[in-house]
Amino acid sequence: MKSDDDLDKWPAAGDTIAAIPVIDLGSRASVRQIADACREWGFFQVIGHGIPRTLVEKVWQSTRAFFALPVDQKERIIRTRENPWGYYNNELTKNQRDKKEVFDYTSGGVDPVYGAKNRWPDFDADFRPTMEAYRDACAGLSLRLLEAMSEGLGVDAGFLNPLFEPEHTGFIRLNYYPVADPMEGREDVAHLDIADLGVHHHTDAGALTVLLQDNVGGLQVYNDGLWYDVPPVDDAFVVNTGDMMQVWSNDRYQAAIHRVLAMENSDRYSIPFFYNPRAGAKIRPLPSVVTASRPALYREIDWSQFRSQRTEGDYADYGAEVQIAQFRIDP
Ligand code: OGA
Ligand code: NI
Repeated sequence: MKSDDDLDKWPAAGDTIAAIPVIDLGSRASVRQIADACREWGFFQVIGHGIPRTLVEKVWQSTRAFFALPVDQKERIIRTRENPWGYYNNELTKNQRDKKEVFDYTSGGVDPVYGAKNRWPDFDADFRPTMEAYRDACAGLSLRLLEAMSEGLGVDAGFLNPLFEPEHTGFIRLNYYPVADPMEGREDVAHLDIADLGVHHHTDAGALTVLLQDNVGGLQVYNDGLWYDVPPVDDAFVVNTGDMMQVWSNDRYQAAIHRVLAMENSDRYSIPFFYNPRAGAKIRPLPSVVTASRPALYREIDWSQFRSQRTEGDYADYGAEVQIAQFRIDP
């Protein structure tokens, strides 16, 4: 076994072998296909999702326009430890500085985990309504995917829904991965190592992630000793399982390890929606997957606590961030 830090030394799969499945949500087979993809990959793409192309195009336009603003204008809504919503250009994943810029926003009211409100740029009156409509569309799609995954685990489709009501704590992240280092020459970050990847390998903390990527590519998923490309597919969303799904499924659906390669030739944009349970939700393996021969593998997790501890790792080098393995019950 290679240790976690050696994961990036595994080779790329090349494009001759198995590919991440593309599933049509309009097809009757989609529930079973989603279950298979969650077991085998923790990653798939969906078409036939019902999110209008016109909305997606407006989201791309707004995203590009935002990142093209002068940095001092973006930094007016820079996120802080007290308020994580807004712009950030020095993201840390695994305690290295990533070469990217982000803008994060969440649900409509005051965020129930942080007690903080979204902060919006004021360069374009359409930006906020476009992004809010998109967030709500992603939440709707995510609920459908959650229901399919629940069915695949042998509980009723709606079994997990109460853990997302009255309000999920999901959020959207606009990611901009430039070829050039946006922080080049800045003394305040000169002491930090710059990552040799766009995003270091990681799992997403929540239930599942629905991601829109442009046509540049660079997202990869780790599976059994190889890194597989998640290629851009027209009008598709990329879906992956997160840590909470791994716990609910009692390891049947592993949270997928993924990364983004450093951009060499063109800038890249991507837009994940991290679908997360409500504040205070308690997460434990589902009754349908806990059996005498396979008892629960995890202690109960308080979602708000897990989320706050994970986010701490985004701000400074406090050592290892909280990982799902810390909640594993020793055999
Ligand atoms: C993330 C992530 C992938 C991408 O932001 O957690 O994995 O393609 N992004 O940008
Ligand atoms: Ni991710």
